[in-house]
Amino acid sequence: MINWPADQPTLTSNIADIALVLRPLRENDIDAIYLACQDPIIPAFTRVPSPYDREMAEEFVRNCEFSYRAHQGIVFAVEVDGIFGGTIGLHGIQLTDHCAEVGYWIEASQRGKGICTTAVRMVLELALNVMKFRRIEGLADISNPASQKVMERAGMTRDALLRNRVTRPNGNQIDMVLFSAIKD
Ligand SMILES: CC(C)(COP(=O)(O)OP(=O)(O)OC[C@H]1O[C@@H](n2cnc3c(N)ncnc32)[C@H](O)[C@@H]1OP(=O)(O)O)[C@@H](O)C(=O)NCCC(=O)NCCS
Repeated sequence: MINWPADQPTLTSNIADIALVLRPLRENDIDAIYLACQDPIIPAFTRVPSPYDREMAEEFVRNCEFSYRAHQGIVFAVEVDGIFGGTIGLHGIQLTDHCAEVGYWIEASQRGKGICTTAVRMVLELALNVMKFRRIEGLADISNPASQKVMERAGMTRDALLRNRVTRPNGNQIDMVLFSAIKD
């Protein structure tokens, strides 16, 4: 059985002298989410819509708490030295099978510092060791080496190449690389 905490936890870690906090989203993250998601690489490699307007960011933040309470998903703000720097979370929750999928994006100015790799490790620790999921998956576009590297370095295993797995908004049909971490 999944051990779903009544209140969404806040997770903390450090990368050298960078303080990393994963915490629930707040209303005052809306502007930062809206601005970060104007970067075309985010909708290109995630399910974030394009074009992305402020109302979408408002709805996203509003839905997160409902989704957490309904055991449908968890979204964390990735806070870097006290500043909003991206999101990471679990979706595609399958309570019966003890499985979920990790997804993330990091705001452009914070990339390349190991932030996402550490954030994935933190979410895997919560998901596998605290919540008792038995498998966490992650999918990255074949043309997204940064995301594949994040999952490899966070300790996930490359399971398979899923051919023609995802249709992007431009109509392109994309091969995805499937990674997983399991509770052994
Ligand atoms: C993927 C993403 C989340 C990575 O975030 P990040 O905080 O920069 O990740 P990290 O710094 O922990 O690690 C990135 C790694 O990829 C490497 N990398 C970056 N661009 C790369 C490229 N084009 N080719 C190969 N490796 C690349 C970095 O060098 C780093 O590895 P290193 O630490 O060994 O040097 C970020 O680039 C992003 O938000 N991209 C857009 C959205 C996205 O792709 N989300 C994931 C969807 S599956």
